[in-house]
Amino acid sequence: MRHLIDPLDFTKEETLWVLDLADRIKADPSIYSHVGDGKKLATLFYEPSTRTRLSFESAMLSLGGQTLGFAGANQSSATKGETIADTARVVSCYADIIAMRHPKEGAPLRASMYAKVPIINAGDGGHNHPSQTLIDMMTIRQRKGRLDHLTIGFCGDLKFGRTVHSLVNSLVRFPGNAFYFISPDELRVPEYLVEDTLKPSNTTYHEVTDLEETIPKLDVLYMTRVQKERFFNEEDYIRLKGTYILTADKLKLAAPDMPVLHPLPRVDEITLDVDDDSRAAYFDQVQNGVYLRMALIMSLLGIPDPQTKEEILSC
Ligand code: NCD
Repeated sequence: MRHLIDPLDFTKEETLWVLDLADRIKADPSIYSHVGDGKKLATLFYEPSTRTRLSFESAMLSLGGQTLGFAGANQSSATKGETIADTARVVSCYADIIAMRHPKEGAPLRASMYAKVPIINAGDGGHNHPSQTLIDMMTIRQRKGRLDHLTIGFCGDLKFGRTVHSLVNSLVRFPGNAFYFISPDELRVPEYLVEDTLKPSNTTYHEVTDLEETIPKLDVLYMTRVQKERFFNEEDYIRLKGTYILTADKLKLAAPDMPVLHPLPRVDEITLDVDDDSRAAYFDQVQNGVYLRMALIMSLLGIPDPQTKEEILSC
């Protein structure tokens, strides 16, 4: 049985297979509308979410399956003191696959040690968010035609932004990628990402503070929200939240084919006048999210693609 806890749980080849399947689903979703008949997805969300939970549920329904779950720790037995291990054992009796979001780093990994069904990490604290990473890669590949030899700028909260950590870990596996990390000093990428990922892979990266100076050098810009819920001190959040605001004016400095990604929700880091620019790719990410999560659920459940008859993941 396979889980998706960390983006590197899938080999590079498996990652590309899932992206290819998501592209085939996008081309004609109706072919896949009954491949998940009789299967159930449980969404266990101990942290707020709009997109991730609803898009997992929409994906399962689009495959012909059904969903159950809770949205908020206060709706679960966590309030009574139940452990993640017990919850994973129990929900394994109710569902064929589980998507879990938790404020504590490592909680979905722990669940995967006790579950009898595949677990998808739908975000664990400031750590990882691997299904969002697959969506980001699908969107970058659609916009740029490749996942290698790209200069990618990550801007905003690079310390707590789990989508950034997962995407960097995945993109270093493709040759020739270079990164600009644009953040205030307090929100720089974590040391472990530098030591465990960037240095060992000999990736070229620059840590900078100026968005306008950096924008002309980029093939892709990945904006992020300052992660209010992970700050200990509200004053620090208020001081840092407005540091980077992408406007239509600043976008004039960028290449005409530089997509702007954002995992959403946006607060005020991208002004509304950017939405009409053809480079705004964040609503494509939302749409791709459903197809990608359909592909992911199929892969982890071992459901072959009816078109190619191929099962993607080996056990
Ligand atoms: C992100 C997350 O939850 O990490 N949102 C999402 O899943 N699309 C980004 C964020 O909350 O800022």
